[in-house]
Amino acid sequence: MGDPSANQEPAPRPARAPEGSPDVAATITTPRLLLSPLQVSDASEMEPVLAAGELYHFTGGSPPSREELERRFAAQVAGSPNQGETWHNWIIRLLDGGSVVGFVQATITDEAAEIAWLVGVPWQRRGIATEATTALCDWLRSQGVRSVTAHIHPDHAASARVAGAAGLQPTGEVDDDGEQVWSSPS
Ligand SMILES: CC(C)(COP(=O)(O)OP(=O)(O)OC[C@H]1O[C@@H](n2cnc3c(N)ncnc32)[C@H](O)[C@@H]1OP(=O)(O)O)[C@@H](O)C(=O)NCCC(=O)NCCS
Repeated sequence: MGDPSANQEPAPRPARAPEGSPDVAATITTPRLLLSPLQVSDASEMEPVLAAGELYHFTGGSPPSREELERRFAAQVAGSPNQGETWHNWIIRLLDGGSVVGFVQATITDEAAEIAWLVGVPWQRRGIATEATTALCDWLRSQGVRSVTAHIHPDHAASARVAGAAGLQPTGEVDDDGEQVWSSPS
C-alpha cells in the first residue's frame, strides 16, 4: 500500500466533508487500546514510534524527522482536497500506561474506505494491529461504509494476517505497485 504513513498527500485546502459522512473526531476504544483522532501535536510521540527503518521494508518510505511529521500531520488533519473524500487518522495508544504505539488510517469516499495500519517495532506481535484494525473496520461499518480495501505486499505475512482477521480477503487484483488488493465483501 505504499508507505502507509504517507499515503494521504498534503492538502492545499480542505474540502468540505460530504453531508452525513463519518465523524473525523470519533474516538474508538478496544479492550486494550484507545484510537484517538490525530493531532499535529502527536508528532513528538509518533516520531520515535516511526523511527525504525524496518517498518518501511514492505511499504517503502523512511523514518520521518519531527518537522516532516508535523507537516504531514498538518496536511492529514486539514483533510482531503478532493470533494467527497475524507481522511481519518487515529493514533493508537495503550490504555495501560498511555504509550503511543502506532496508527490506523482510512480514506473514505462515498461508501468505500481504503485503510492502512502501522505498529511500532517494540509493540509488535502482541495482537495490537489486529485489535486496532478490526475495531476500525467495525467502526467503518457502523458508519455506513460498505466496502473496505487494503493494498498489501504479497510477502507481507503479518499484514495479510491482520487483514484477514479484520474480515478482508484477497481479491486476486494486483495494483500498479505490485501489491495485492484485499477487500471486505460488501
Ligand atoms: C503489519 C504490522 C502492523 C503488524 O503489527 P502487529 O501488531 O505486530 O500485528 P499482530 O500482533 O496483530 O499480528 C498479526 C499476525 O501477524 C503475525 N505476525 C506479526 N509479525 C509478524 C512477522 N514479522 N512475521 C510473520 N508474522 C507476523 C502474528 O503472529 C499474528 O498472527 P496470528 O493472527 O496468526 O496470530 C506491523 O508489522 C507493522 O507496522 N509493519 C510496518 C508497517 C506496515 O507494513 N504496515 C502495513 C501496510 S499494508
